[in-house]
Amino acid sequence: EKAGFDHFMLKEIYEQPKAYRDTMRGRVSEDNNSVSLTEIGMTAEQVKGIRKVHIVACGTAYHAGLVGKTVIERMARIPVETDVASEYRYRSPIITPDTLVIVVSQSGETADTLAALREAKRNGARVLAITNVVGSSVAREADDVLITWAGPEIAVASTKAYTSQLIAFYLFGVYLAQTLGTMEQAAITEVLTAMQQLPEQVEAVLEQSAVLKQVADSIAVHKNLFFIGRGVDFAVAQEGSLKLKEISYIHSEAYAAGELKHGTLALIEDGIPVIALVTQEELYEKTLSNIKEVKARGAHVLAIANAGSEVEVSKSVDELFAIPKTLPILSPAVSVIPLQLISYYASLAVGNDVDKPRNLAKSVTVE
Ligand code: M6R
Repeated sequence: EKAGFDHFMLKEIYEQPKAYRDTMRGRVSEDNNSVSLTEIGMTAEQVKGIRKVHIVACGTAYHAGLVGKTVIERMARIPVETDVASEYRYRSPIITPDTLVIVVSQSGETADTLAALREAKRNGARVLAITNVVGSSVAREADDVLITWAGPEIAVASTKAYTSQLIAFYLFGVYLAQTLGTMEQAAITEVLTAMQQLPEQVEAVLEQSAVLKQVADSIAVHKNLFFIGRGVDFAVAQEGSLKLKEISYIHSEAYAAGELKHGTLALIEDGIPVIALVTQEELYEKTLSNIKEVKARGAHVLAIANAGSEVEVSKSVDELFAIPKTLPILSPAVSVIPLQLISYYASLAVGNDVDKPRNLAKSVTVE
């Protein structure tokens, strides 16, 4: 069932181009001008009545929700908060009938996420579930369901479910924007057209896996490392760090690049690997100056940067892994792929059970 791959995780990483296509199929018009999400039963009036959005999820799904916040705020201009489900209920969130609560869960069975969904409904909010399992508890109890068509995910480390959740957020962001009139038609077409390129762009990264294996081998001898980025790059940094910890047991921390100098820079010492995500053009200059701060303290910096920006970025870093360029908001769907492969190969390098890391379960049904 591993279809010739050594592990489910690797198989699932390679299934991502298909997962993107399947999640978009039938939802994007042929001319790339609009999105239709027929499974969502909200009327235009109901969409116009949404005053705020709460995104609630755990682990990797939470990291998709961090990107989802930026997507919805940028595209639909509705304020969004993203919470981890185990914290959400206990902070007395202000849930009103004009709040849309989006729960994100691959399995649709995560106890904390389900409890958050129930709390949201008790308070009269409408709940949208983004899930990979048709008929799961979360799918059954939510008002609306957006299925991610990633297919079954077996490895404990989530890969194709995460990226399909990103695709679901992009589709939903456009859906809101076209109902609310918050994006020009040209901008909508630009996003949907760029989304069609994502599967091939992911394939191009997958073809570079040998390079990423080398990176992973060099990282696997370290006890500590950092992932840094700004904006959605920071959200991807958090996902990269979780993935690496989960399956390689190597400690890493994800930091907002501009926040390092407020304390964490003290931990940077000679030779420490820093993986810097540098995909957001508007933020290049700022991120590069943060990279200089860690370089000056001896860090070994690997940049994940857009093809075409090599000249600008490579003089500030030790190594550069170029990824195909997409729109800034879509870049997480490409930039996370090298991080998944680095984690996979690091786990192999240290001799771990990649698909079944210690102490963890695929579906967490206790709070
Ligand atoms: O099934 P869910 O999406 O609700 O699961 C949430 C987390 O338990 C899950 O994403 C976890 O963080 C992954 N093992 C990370 O790779």
